Amino acid sequence: MNNVAQPWWKSAVIYQIYPRSFMDANGDGIGDLPGVISKLDYLTDLGINAIWLSPVFRSPQDDNGYDVSDYRDIDPLFGTLADMDRLIAEAKKRGIRIILDMVLNHSSDEHRWFLEAKKSRDNPYHDYYIWRDGKPDMPPNDMLSSFGGSAWEWVPALGQYYFHQYSVKQPDLNWENPALRQELYQILRWWAARGVGGFRLDVVDHFGKEPDKKIRVAGPRLHEYIRELSSEVLRGTELVTVGEAWSATPESAKLYSNPDGSELSMVFQFKHIKLDRMPGRENRALVPLPFLQFKQVLGRWQTELYGRGWNSLFWENHDLPRCVSRWGDDGKYRVECAKMLAVLLFGMQGTPYIYQGQELGMTNADYALEDYRDIGVFNHIREMRADGFNEEEILYSLHTTSRDNARTPMQWSTAENAGFTAGKPWIRVNPNYLDINAAAQQADPDSVWHCYQKLIALRRQHPVFQRGYFELLLEKDEAIFAYTRTDADTQLLVLCNFYGEAIDNPLYPENAAGELLFVSYPNISEPQRLRPYEARIYRKPYKTE
Ligand code: NOJ
Repeated sequence: MNNVAQPWWKSAVIYQIYPRSFMDANGDGIGDLPGVISKLDYLTDLGINAIWLSPVFRSPQDDNGYDVSDYRDIDPLFGTLADMDRLIAEAKKRGIRIILDMVLNHSSDEHRWFLEAKKSRDNPYHDYYIWRDGKPDMPPNDMLSSFGGSAWEWVPALGQYYFHQYSVKQPDLNWENPALRQELYQILRWWAARGVGGFRLDVVDHFGKEPDKKIRVAGPRLHEYIRELSSEVLRGTELVTVGEAWSATPESAKLYSNPDGSELSMVFQFKHIKLDRMPGRENRALVPLPFLQFKQVLGRWQTELYGRGWNSLFWENHDLPRCVSRWGDDGKYRVECAKMLAVLLFGMQGTPYIYQGQELGMTNADYALEDYRDIGVFNHIREMRADGFNEEEILYSLHTTSRDNARTPMQWSTAENAGFTAGKPWIRVNPNYLDINAAAQQADPDSVWHCYQKLIALRRQHPVFQRGYFELLLEKDEAIFAYTRTDADTQLLVLCNFYGEAIDNPLYPENAAGELLFVSYPNISEPQRLRPYEARIYRKPYKTE
């Protein structure tokens, strides 16, 4: 296996940009493509290989671009098609590939297809969407939209309902229709021909939905559709694909990321992300992370997919709170905690993803109600009010779980608006930018930013990061996350104190035998003690018997 050429994305590090909040070049308060281009050198310094760009297609922006009205054009908010071509070319010069976020489960209700579809039942585009006959106030069933209310919207002129798993402005596409599927494949090929490096597929596990059976995810035809997409678009190309699949299990992930290339490169799996959600409160409230389960879940994905699939590695994205605030410490030990989480993630097998600002240890935002912008948040507030929660409880819930925690502007410097925009930012800048910003961290060799830069370089230097077998150690230890990665000649030991108290290192003295490849503190400590959130990577030669 080691001699076979591996696809580029197995040794890549991918950086996610939420363009709206990354860098604003034209002063309208909204990040844009010229802004991204202006920061390519920053990303080159960090050492990443590809950028996953959240959607920049033409869109009414009901769900910040996850409602696409033209898949072949750029929304004027973000720039032009020429800007996109320039981004692809400028990134390529720096060895960076651009991964587009394709939202193919649903479109915008302002997409030409939907405007046609709702004209009449016999319009050729009608069957691109999911319609059911009915009567007003009697939806076909009780399925709910993820953004609140019924998943069915009544269109009086047709005497029909259409199905939408997200907002009413995001009608679900009908994947059962072969013509629709071909249309989507053409769009993917069109972008591939323009030079993009791959695709993130939004809610890929919803493609096989069967609303009559109330099936949202992992429907019976799902993998058939993905295999078709793969053979129509991906086969024989270098394109990387990552599907967002909240329902993925190690079993289904082996299909999705089958090394024979029949489906996708990998999926985002969320088992580890769901562990601290309060039962019955979905993503509205968190409980302390059940640490032993966290280790067990991540370990299981590592071992199950070894040689039989491929993992994505991530803690954050534009839908999730910031990891230091969520699982660690965004106060006294913020820096130590951010570094530990980086080491823990980068030591595992898979393709690591960094969400913008994670490399600075950016934190959640303690905003007032009027500072929020997300459609998901508005629904969140409505639901909590209806359930009788008071304003204080609602605010606490938003501070800890809302999607806007990750959508605050990127903190570039101490300049006004954190250097993000010369105008009025579309969403408030987190006031902690005076302490937490890229300029300060690039100048400080002990910063979180330098920790990420170093880890990226280490992964490139030592192939064991890519191919080593994972083994969880100290399974029952309540504070330490430790594992080894072993290939034919090298063994790594990744040792992380997951909490803010200093503790004895139970692996001492064996672990002190290797070379200390990385330590998350600026100075050396006693090998038998781990300081708060301390993380280390040891390396030693390994001989198979
Ligand atoms: C998942 C995306 O990550 C999220 O931001 C979006 O709201 C939904 N899919 C709907 O497209």
